[in-house]
Amino acid sequence: MSSVDAFAREKLAGLESQSLLRSLVETERTDGVWMDRGGRRLLSFSCNDYLNLSQHPEIKAAAIAAIEQYGVGSGASRLVTGNHPLYAELEARLARLKGTEAACVFGSGYLANTGIIPALVGSGDLILLDDLSHACIWAGARLSRATVMPFRHNDVAHAKALLREHRARHPRVLIATEGVFSMDGDLAPLVDLAALARQFDAWLLTDDAHGLGVIGGGRGSSFVGGERPDVPLQMGTLSKALGAYGGYLCASRPVIDLMRNRARTFVYSTALPPAVLAGAIAAIDLIEREPAYAALPVGKAKAFTRQVGLPDAVSSIVPVVVGEADAALAASHMLEDEGFLVVPIRPPTVPDGTARLRFAFAAAHPDDEIIRLADIVRTRVVGNKR
Ligand SMILES: Cc1ncc(COP(=O)(O)O)c(C=O)c1O
Repeated sequence: MSSVDAFAREKLAGLESQSLLRSLVETERTDGVWMDRGGRRLLSFSCNDYLNLSQHPEIKAAAIAAIEQYGVGSGASRLVTGNHPLYAELEARLARLKGTEAACVFGSGYLANTGIIPALVGSGDLILLDDLSHACIWAGARLSRATVMPFRHNDVAHAKALLREHRARHPRVLIATEGVFSMDGDLAPLVDLAALARQFDAWLLTDDAHGLGVIGGGRGSSFVGGERPDVPLQMGTLSKALGAYGGYLCASRPVIDLMRNRARTFVYSTALPPAVLAGAIAAIDLIEREPAYAALPVGKAKAFTRQVGLPDAVSSIVPVVVGEADAALAASHMLEDEGFLVVPIRPPTVPDGTARLRFAFAAAHPDDEIIRLADIVRTRVVGNKR
């Protein structure tokens, strides 16, 4: 056996012994929330297509029309091959939705964070990030070569203490967090973080991957509640509630122009397919037109948490922390036997000892199935922990 194969096998055996081995399971999704897997039909709570727009007739029609008109691939990077007119339209729509001067679309949310952060800060600068931040925020932070200091999850006092101690030694400081936390479903205290950023002349970046289209009337986490936090760097993805693909940054005109010049994942990566751009534009149309529809996933999540006896959901994501990875796997298998797909989330995606079931609620989930699921979770998952 070659040494690289031996290395891979040893790593995989280690993962398997800790119940952390992952494998791809063929799953066909032909409808908003129902999946075919291994010949069985399952109701999925493991999909971020919160508004089921990836299957929406209007969005599909827009994407098909774009393919017919422009073809499939885009050919090269936007700076090289020329900017597709659908980009200008999509970026203008995103900026309007988020209330910023301009927007810049990237190839994915992951590419956005790994491009934006190193374009803004570098060696000698400081990044404070919530310690539950998504892997791509961490990746962008590490790529930047700035000093990275995590603060305890949603702990503004901890972030403040770090700024008091370290701010003066760094020319530029970025504070990064998620608007809606992807594995916990809670919201960042954006009003307080924005005030803190202002006080210490730091730049606040929010990743609203799970907020756009779902909270704040569909406009995301900066639009929840009466007070509007000043968030100069609003990042997010088009791949979840918008049902399409791609990432974005909404910000001021100079920041967006800087991205187009210096964000390496923008400059050196091929533009998105036109069909994806057209689908995302159609999705924004729908969200702006139908805020009551955009509110459905959180309403469904709340119905679930009330039936289980958990604190009210504040987003479309509800975690039920089980503890060890093998317990989360067993709970997931039990739910699959009952007809539900709820994939266990295990380390390193979440911290050790906090493996969980992550329920993602979508507009098309039938109410009676949510109640049936909640009753099973209450009696056989939450009840078991007591
Ligand atoms: C918080 C957060 N940020 C960024 C991403 C990455 O976005 P994308 O899937 O568009 O690469 C995700 C999705 O996995 C996410 O949950």
